[in-house]
Amino acid sequence: MDNEGGGADNYVTSVNCCTEGLFQVMKCFDITEGDEVILPTCHFVGTANAIADTGAKVVFCDVDDRSLNTTAKYIEEKITSRTKAVCILHYGGVPCELDEIVKLCEEKNLILIEDTATAVASLYKGQACGTFGQAGLWSFDAMKILVCGDGGMICLKDEKNFYKLKQNLYLGLLSQSGFSNSVDSKWWEFQIDTFGRRGIMNDISSAIGLVQLQKLPSFIEKRKHIAELYDSILSNVEWLKIPPKIEDYKTSSYYMYWIQTNAKEDRDTLATYLRKNDIYTTFRYYPLHWVDLYGQKSVKLNNAEEAAYRTLCLPIHQSLSDDEVEKICDLIIKYKE
Ligand SMILES: Cc1ncc(COP(=O)(O)O)c(C=O)c1O
Repeated sequence: MDNEGGGADNYVTSVNCCTEGLFQVMKCFDITEGDEVILPTCHFVGTANAIADTGAKVVFCDVDDRSLNTTAKYIEEKITSRTKAVCILHYGGVPCELDEIVKLCEEKNLILIEDTATAVASLYKGQACGTFGQAGLWSFDAMKILVCGDGGMICLKDEKNFYKLKQNLYLGLLSQSGFSNSVDSKWWEFQIDTFGRRGIMNDISSAIGLVQLQKLPSFIEKRKHIAELYDSILSNVEWLKIPPKIEDYKTSSYYMYWIQTNAKEDRDTLATYLRKNDIYTTFRYYPLHWVDLYGQKSVKLNNAEEAAYRTLCLPIHQSLSDDEVEKICDLIIKYKE
């Protein structure tokens, strides 16, 4: 099994979806009962499920109330002798402060997993998000930027773990099938060394993905333009905040555009009013410590909770026209008139 193009220290493979990749990666790192994995509470439910499914405890940490990204400080507050890994998210495609998080994980000997599902083109100081930790995982599902029906990529730093992952992604097989198996006879014989699953990406999705990859720079340009148009119109609206300015050493994928209402009561009524006017908005990611099944409702994570009351994600995708963005902004402005 080859390194499929990740470069010297990066072993990269495709997967049928990012969620499957997350489940497989947790297994690959032997995360198990008795371990703790720290996760920012404003995170994708499938990521928390991938941890919980191993029997490990998901430990939720806080996020910055404006960027909704977690920080080294909030991670450190949750480290115990049982902590094995940290799984961060680059909210809306804007990179976390990776220097500080990487340093903390190195000092504390923790596995860093980057969920880069929403950060397909994000860079931190010129380096691709997803290549800072021991694992990075991208998603190409229907709601993402680079879309191929369903699919994802996984990048691992460790060669041994990568081979383990590849086996788990394809039924546990130790040898290749078809013409890829180079033995001269009885090529139908095989051995497995694990009860692997079938998490590989199909050829049709891969072909779509390759074409989408060529278009990615134009998708990001378009999304950047939309974000800047929202910024320029909404920055003058005194009852809401636009997203924080992105530092010049970070490149965003502009996956989400979010506003935050100064008054908590405005967020929900604004969302309902926009929906009645055929504009779909949402809030991502609903704090997971509020979800009963994780059993952590008594935990207080003040910034995440503030953000959860005030944040609304507005439409952003590469087919949105300037007229449509202006119409959305007009409606938002009229909401208070
Ligand atoms: C942050 C994050 N991680 C992982 C995923 C899972 O991606 P997939 O749909 O490819 O399984 C998503 C999907 O929405 C996501 O937003």
